[in-house]
Amino acid sequence: MSSNERAPIGVIGVGWVGLVTAACFAELGHEVIARDVVEEKVESLRRGEVTIHEPGLVDLIARNSDRLHFTTDMAELLNRARLLFVCVDTPPSYSGDADLSRVRSVMADIKDDGDHVLVMKSTVPPGTGETIRRDLPGLAYVSCPEFLKEGSAVEDFMHPDRVVIGASDRDQAAAREVADLYRPLGGELVMTDTSSSEMIKLASNAYLSTRISFINEIANVCEEVGADVTEVARGMGLDQRIGPQFLRPGIGFGGSCFPKDVNALKLLAGNSGYHFQLLNAVIEVNELQKRRVVSKLVRHLDSLVGKRVALLGLAFKPDTDDMREASSLVLSARLRGEGAEVVAYDPVARENARTLLPGVEVMVTAEQALEGADAVVLVTEWPEFRDLDWAGAAASMRRPLIIDGRNFLDADAMRQAGFTYEGIGRPGVGTERE
Ligand code: UGA
Repeated sequence: MSSNERAPIGVIGVGWVGLVTAACFAELGHEVIARDVVEEKVESLRRGEVTIHEPGLVDLIARNSDRLHFTTDMAELLNRARLLFVCVDTPPSYSGDADLSRVRSVMADIKDDGDHVLVMKSTVPPGTGETIRRDLPGLAYVSCPEFLKEGSAVEDFMHPDRVVIGASDRDQAAAREVADLYRPLGGELVMTDTSSSEMIKLASNAYLSTRISFINEIANVCEEVGADVTEVARGMGLDQRIGPQFLRPGIGFGGSCFPKDVNALKLLAGNSGYHFQLLNAVIEVNELQKRRVVSKLVRHLDSLVGKRVALLGLAFKPDTDDMREASSLVLSARLRGEGAEVVAYDPVARENARTLLPGVEVMVTAEQALEGADAVVLVTEWPEFRDLDWAGAAASMRRPLIIDGRNFLDADAMRQAGFTYEGIGRPGVGTERE
């Protein structure tokens, strides 16, 4: 292996984070070698086939194919690359904390030969870096958590708000090397110790989740007192100490990160003897928020037994086919539990939905899902839903009732199209104000 600066960047784990990281480093002009254990995945990537739905990624990979190499061979990766970006999954375990088995199996494959720098992108509990350093003392270790959002990951990589880099005093040279890779992107570089870096990741996700549960509770109070939560969020967000982002109420946050990381931080605190009260509430509010939609439907339809309810959007947010912890999962199960017949449509998550939503008929078009329905719930705010022929849809439904779970549609236009419209936290919208 050459240890000069031109050695390729190594990426271990070619899931969503690994693939975006590999493609973006290639776009920045680096040679990248990315390794995954799944042979079929590596084979299809070699053919230029990308199965992950992420805007801009297919083009990026095609454009940089001469600099991007995929392999299953760890020895090849270790021979050629010096900086190793670890991008393997750390899914929730049975008990709710992070399952580090994939990180451990990577560690077992890496020789402690003093030649490599391990850069941890995977989300790991604070203290993990210390443990790895103890177990593999010859390895330089740098924590560099990822803050990419699904659906805008390429953009987020290329224009980071900040890049967090954590290393011990011993590994400062390696930390600087990693910082140099990110410097051209322009985000603020936060150089810190390993545990603080790991904690920044968990705390950021837990804080954003807290904001969402907070605004969801404000929305629920708005429904009681006749205020409009979108006005409230706008008025709050203009205070620079608060800021406007992540104040969109809805039917709960999902995805592979927020629910997992809030829980992981709560457990981590608990295991260290600290009872993190706030996070219990964040989790509970998020669960209740999904169930409130069912109560709204019952209020309009009396009973859901035998009623046909259409879900529009199944992914945990737009621009992804990811349904992990998506609100649609809980919602469809609750609706079916109440005796409703559930039909659904999503522009890209159709295949995932067919496996994950047993008993739910997944339609090929939104129009098919709406036809004959007693109610529709907008679960995910896919832009194409704004352009549906809503008047035509209203005419095709048994009862034109919509619960807009993301406050995404124009309430007045929906009423003009013939719908009874209800959003989240906007009781007076579309009607005369007092
Ligand atoms: C989140 C973080 O935003 C990223 O910074 C982080 O890197 C990533 O987790 C991770 O740890 O890997 P992501 O899960 O892709 O990114 O999605 P977000 O855009 O953050 O949305 C998460 C959930 O919150 C979605 O269900 C979304 O609908 C919901 N949300 C978001 C709201 O309900 N209201 C909001 O105002 C914003």
